[in-house]
Amino acid sequence: MNISYNAPKKRFTLNTAHTTYAFEIWDNLYPVHLYYGPKAVITHGFKPEDFNSFSPNPNFNNKSYSLDTLPLEFSSFGNSDYRTPSVQIEFENGSKITDFIYEGFEIVPFKAPLKTLPASFSHEKDEAETLILTLKDLISGCKIELYYSVFPHTDVITKSTKILNSSQETLKVLALASGQIDFHHSNFDLIHLCGAWARERDLVRTSVHKTAHAIESKRGASGHHQNPFMALVDPNTTEFHGDCYGFNLIYSGSFKHQLEVSPYDQFRVVSGLNPFNFSWVLLPDESFESPEMILTYSANGLNQMSQNFHHFIKQHVLSPSFAYLERPVLINNWEATYFDFDEDKLKALICSAEEMGAELFVLDDGWFGNRNDDTSSLGDWFENPKKLPNGIKAIAQFAVNHHVNFGLWVEPEMVSKNSHLYRAHPEYCLQTPSRPQTEGRNQLILDLSNSEVCDMLFDNLATLLKKAPISYVKWDMNRNMTEVYSERFNQGEVEHRYYLGLYALIKRLTTAFPSVLFEGCSGGGGRFDLGILHFMPQNWTSDNTDAVARLKIQYATSLAYPIITMGAHISAVPNHQTGRVTPFSFRAHVAMSGNLGVELDPTALTENDLTALSEFIKLYKSHRQLIQNGSFYRISSPFENTLTAWCFLSSDAREILLFAFRPFKIANMPLKKIKCPYADENLNYGLVSTSFEDTKPEAFSDIHGSQLKYDGLYMPHAQGDFKSCYWYLKSF
Ligand code: GLA
Repeated sequence: MNISYNAPKKRFTLNTAHTTYAFEIWDNLYPVHLYYGPKAVITHGFKPEDFNSFSPNPNFNNKSYSLDTLPLEFSSFGNSDYRTPSVQIEFENGSKITDFIYEGFEIVPFKAPLKTLPASFSHEKDEAETLILTLKDLISGCKIELYYSVFPHTDVITKSTKILNSSQETLKVLALASGQIDFHHSNFDLIHLCGAWARERDLVRTSVHKTAHAIESKRGASGHHQNPFMALVDPNTTEFHGDCYGFNLIYSGSFKHQLEVSPYDQFRVVSGLNPFNFSWVLLPDESFESPEMILTYSANGLNQMSQNFHHFIKQHVLSPSFAYLERPVLINNWEATYFDFDEDKLKALICSAEEMGAELFVLDDGWFGNRNDDTSSLGDWFENPKKLPNGIKAIAQFAVNHHVNFGLWVEPEMVSKNSHLYRAHPEYCLQTPSRPQTEGRNQLILDLSNSEVCDMLFDNLATLLKKAPISYVKWDMNRNMTEVYSERFNQGEVEHRYYLGLYALIKRLTTAFPSVLFEGCSGGGGRFDLGILHFMPQNWTSDNTDAVARLKIQYATSLAYPIITMGAHISAVPNHQTGRVTPFSFRAHVAMSGNLGVELDPTALTENDLTALSEFIKLYKSHRQLIQNGSFYRISSPFENTLTAWCFLSSDAREILLFAFRPFKIANMPLKKIKCPYADENLNYGLVSTSFEDTKPEAFSDIHGSQLKYDGLYMPHAQGDFKSCYWYLKSF
């Protein structure tokens, strides 16, 4: 039993392998948070101090407390808790006041799926347990169900919330959080991932002591600008030591983590759908469910937090048929040709792909309608006869005949004004009557809250996928929402309904084409979130393929997401996003640390370069299992150090692939050893191979695990910028 209930104390304890989460029903009314942290036996309940809070007392018979000073599991609005509520609903008379109090609970030995949204799942009974706590607003009769699912082996707890309109009137839900936690102090650093197109997921660490913060998106997508992941950590926490709490949401639209400190230094986190511009009409007997929030606690620093998330995501969020499946080495023609290609060029690329050992050729943007630049044709998902006179089928078959699988880029959620689809159905777009439509990259967004639009997209995409041997789809989305409006619904519902439509559409497609590998993309990593990953088990990490920039992007992305979800392509120099020229080895080592792809024109390479690329692909394949399915640990951060280091470890710690990168040379640089804290200190490791380029580390035959762990290895001191090396170590 991982969830237990102490009836006399009305206390709930949720245990994972290494953590405990506990709360109790206070005054027979309110669920009060007791504890979240290392595994502990919670025998003491909550005892409020005499707060001089200037905040009213909700219980006439017990004036010892105010809701404003209780650490609550869920807070209503307007009844003496002045902090951010978990729920706000508007009644027909305009009142928004509720007071949800404890009604009962149920514990079930599984994790049920959500009805409308992607969510985590358990494979077998007993792999997860769920506590369902019911609260009721006595005046209206409305109910709230709080779902807590415990996944003991990954140290993850998920939360979600459902509201049931058991009143007699029509309600408007203005806010419904996925989860709330009131920590008992605010002495945290906040770590979050913000950025912009081509510099996604910049790792920011800031003290939140006694201050409020919001990590959010209002863009109609999780976005490049803030990722739904965040962590609250002790100010002394490092990658290797210290307390940290990780949070994420299984959702792809506008979200919010509201962080608020009370005058008593309690620290509230309220996470879920962004209440900004949200409202949902709920008729009597209808219900509405929030997206799911995932939570983990690690006492051993950020690396352990990431391990918990990585295992959980692979085991319980990604599609089981792809979660551990080795991903193909692909070649994508985007940076090789952009829109400028014809069938002969594609055939030449496919032949090079075969020669170099790539396993998948991806035909990117520009193959359809009349698309020769980004001003037209989105929505017209049939081949451009000038570029592909023999059709998609012929080029896909050509690839297959050359032992290379075939994949295709699409951007189904969008439409160009200059397209057959738009001319036939201008009403399919998101638009507000009598207002101009704002274009982004010359395109408009289709209204996926309209089931007719989703059906049309399903038919068109299914026709395409049936037409040719297509084994991979890159699903792009190249702008954020504007003029969000629908004649069918209350306006505050439209964005969320868009995501319900999108998820249902992708689910239909992935069910109908179960062997097709989908990769999510949104101008690179603009929708790198667990909602998309639930259906599409990998994502294009960033449009920025510059290896120096990628060190930071990949390092920070790994805080929350497993390596097997991250596309990493080796591209040409000068790099197309930064103009930087880095050597092949440096680009190769960075790209090798994710799902490897090639994003350059191999037909333009010299014979020597092509040989180096083929050798490198061979090398990647020999380590692919370890890279994609081993454990990834960050060792030295590019955000703080001149040296970046990370490693991949097999589950028995007998195999280690350790990388070091030094992007910029510093004259007379101080020496620094790279330790590998995750090596097994009882094993001796033989050096099987090292990098093949000029930064070849000193050769040695073996090294003891304890020395690797506590002493480390030097990265060779070579002259010049962009140096990198690796050591592949194995204990036999
Ligand atoms: C987006 C993607 C790129 C490429 C282009 C095509 O920017 O992130 O990888 O597919 O679209 O237009």
